[in-house]
Amino acid sequence: MSSYHIKHLEEYFQVYRKSITDPESFWEEIAEEHFLWRKRWDKVLEWDFSKPDIKWFQGAKLNISENCLDRHLRTKGEKTAIIFEPNDPEEEARHITYNELHDRVCRFGNVLKKQGIERGDRVCIYMPMIPDLAVALLACARIGAVHSVVFAGFSAIALATRINDSDCKMVITSDGSYRGAKTLDLKAIVDDSLEDCPGVKTVLVAKRTHNEVSMKEGRDFWLQPLLDDANQSCSMEIMDAEDPLFILYTSGSTGMPKGMVHTSGGYMVYTAYTFKNIFQYCDEDVYWCTADIGWITGHSYILYGPLANGATTLMFEGVPNYPDYGRFWKIVEKHKVNQFYTAPTVIRSLAKQNLDYIEKYDLSSLKVLGSVGEPINEEAWHWYNDNIGKKKSPIVDTWWQTETGGIMISPIPFTTPTKPTYATLPLPGIQPVLLDKEGDEITGNQVNGNLCIKFPWPSIARTIWGNHERFRDTYFSAFKNQYFTGDGAFRDEVGYYRIIGRVDDVIIVSGHNMGTAPIEDAINEHPAVVESAIVGFPHDIKGNALYGFVILKETGESRVHDNVRKEINQIITEHIGPIAKLDKIQFTSGLPKTRSGKIMRRILRKIANHEMDDMGDTSTLLNPEVVQEIIDNVK
Ligand code: PRX
Repeated sequence: MSSYHIKHLEEYFQVYRKSITDPESFWEEIAEEHFLWRKRWDKVLEWDFSKPDIKWFQGAKLNISENCLDRHLRTKGEKTAIIFEPNDPEEEARHITYNELHDRVCRFGNVLKKQGIERGDRVCIYMPMIPDLAVALLACARIGAVHSVVFAGFSAIALATRINDSDCKMVITSDGSYRGAKTLDLKAIVDDSLEDCPGVKTVLVAKRTHNEVSMKEGRDFWLQPLLDDANQSCSMEIMDAEDPLFILYTSGSTGMPKGMVHTSGGYMVYTAYTFKNIFQYCDEDVYWCTADIGWITGHSYILYGPLANGATTLMFEGVPNYPDYGRFWKIVEKHKVNQFYTAPTVIRSLAKQNLDYIEKYDLSSLKVLGSVGEPINEEAWHWYNDNIGKKKSPIVDTWWQTETGGIMISPIPFTTPTKPTYATLPLPGIQPVLLDKEGDEITGNQVNGNLCIKFPWPSIARTIWGNHERFRDTYFSAFKNQYFTGDGAFRDEVGYYRIIGRVDDVIIVSGHNMGTAPIEDAINEHPAVVESAIVGFPHDIKGNALYGFVILKETGESRVHDNVRKEINQIITEHIGPIAKLDKIQFTSGLPKTRSGKIMRRILRKIANHEMDDMGDTSTLLNPEVVQEIIDNVK
């Protein structure tokens, strides 16, 4: 029996049993046999969820870039590591071999060193989906710098907040980015944000769109000439397994985004292990995840997981509907993609199009289809299964989070029988439990509860950058000795899990986590606004869309209201980015509040969801009369 590569259901049950009866020897074996360590660990696991303090492979030394690159060179040097498919279908795709990627990462590492970046320094990366982005992450990892990738759709203000929170010394960006027919001026956004970031000493700029940009003398440098000049051998930093590898920001229900910190050793072991099993990757396969590297899915399953397995991973710069809605399927045919991993929101938008867009292309190379980011509804699941998988490629509905680092609950294809809308069973090493409000475990099947994980797994985030207390409060305080996911789940008659959705104030829009607080803070900046509250409501493509209830200083005419609506969305775009824009804005004279002044979002959620028949008890509100007013004005 191989614990590393599970191929049958029986094997899964055996491996799973072993992984929970003796987690330490389970992970130790995998770590030992499949990775390169410069020094062995002294202890496999030490943990205490009450602090929380979690350490995997303590005392071990490694470099993740060596595991992703150097160790493959002897046997796979000429194998394609990255296929780059540009935004413009007329532009030639690029195949970057492991040798070439290694060479480029080494040069980039030397550029970073020459610019004064040292082990432990934070480097912010704000780039389009081009090969230099992948190279930048691996180069940071090679020299021991901590990368903090910010999705290149965030605004200048959001970027500055993230740069300052983790005190980044450098920003790596590009002149611009292509998004379908549009070009985005990334460097100008970086310039704006850096007005408020005194800690940034250097900006490296990759050339992509060739638009004119301003370069600040002594701070800004074009990347390519520096790479050309750099030495192609770059000694790597030997890191401790528990040294931070990267920070990635995710929204919370309150305040500042949380800089989740992931470390090297456990993250590498877990992402590589799950990649291998969930996608059943075989050596000649071409694997494609459509996410952006700016999100955790891209970190773990475009870059680190695949490369640690010596896989060929496809990076796509563009969007699903450019030049038309057949683009994804054209790419699948062109590169003979075997594993395809995308998000329900994308599936729903493609399902709205004519089937001709699919039928033109040969999708017979596909073996496994994946879904991530939000619950996949039954209709989308069947559309994906029937039209893309032709009922022969299993769908892996993978549930996980930025905080978990890797996939936690998912079918293993050709092993776990799939069931629409179910993420099915926990992966080896993952011990989910459902808890009631009091924190008692709900045992048995066909039950609902708060989804928690009771035992650490190797890729769990270790802290929130600069705020360990918030880490504890957010994830380890609601339920004693448990990691609380913030999601609710249902367990069916055979023990399969179905994720129901968030039970906190985070709203998942198009698969992206949106915290209500930062959006409300942005809206409240508008001079005409007194107060606001955001809730989610169902949307047939985005899954959820945002509904804002807003109190204005003065009630005005509808023309004025329309202008304020536009301005509110403009402010949100400036503060966060277009992904956080509201679909509906309703003005109101008040918001339903408890006597202690807390907004009762439950009531607003029901109104936004048109569930007005069952408002629950509103008598304890400070201002129950406002509920009727809001209901009367719903459009
Ligand atoms: O609510 C769950 C939802 O996305 C949240 C995590 O978001 P984020 O940290 O941005 O990571 C997204 C990519 C891993 C979860 O708490 N979610 C993610 N995957 C699924 C899901 N909900 C249901 N089914 C999924 N497969």
